[in-house]
Amino acid sequence: MAILNIVKEGDPVLRKKCRPVDTVTPRILRLLDDMRETLIDAEGVGLAAPQVGVMRRIAIVEKDGEYIELINPEIIASEGEQEEIEGCLSVPGIWGVTHRPAKVTVKATGRDGEEFTVSGEGIQARAFCHEIDHLSGKLFTDDAVRILSPEEVKELVG
Ligand code: NI
Repeated sequence: MAILNIVKEGDPVLRKKCRPVDTVTPRILRLLDDMRETLIDAEGVGLAAPQVGVMRRIAIVEKDGEYIELINPEIIASEGEQEEIEGCLSVPGIWGVTHRPAKVTVKATGRDGEEFTVSGEGIQARAFCHEIDHLSGKLFTDDAVRILSPEEVKELVG
């Protein structure tokens, strides 16, 4: 496994649409392993393939200490609404208030090639939405209702 370089805002790969994965090849499995290691190293909640320069519909989200690998993820149900603070490993130092569903259900393919569904509330719902947005070239700052001031960030992260 390897820790990959996380690309930052301004890199055009973050603004492109990712292609779906047809077959879970050994190369895709290795990418999943590397993305998991990269996410753990960066202490993030989620990571999408374009953030490591790969234009495929793949993301990882941490949920209760487990790393959920999502190939070709799609939000199939959502309910409620939440307004919370969000950040992104590709947009370091910037935090913004976003509106997201309170709960979402995601359908995806796992590393075994089998389809599964997973639900998440709170921070997991935000992470599922945030990572799936990355696959369409979207960043949380696009829809943030407000970007925190440097003073507010200082209070938030110390
Ligand atoms: Ni992000």
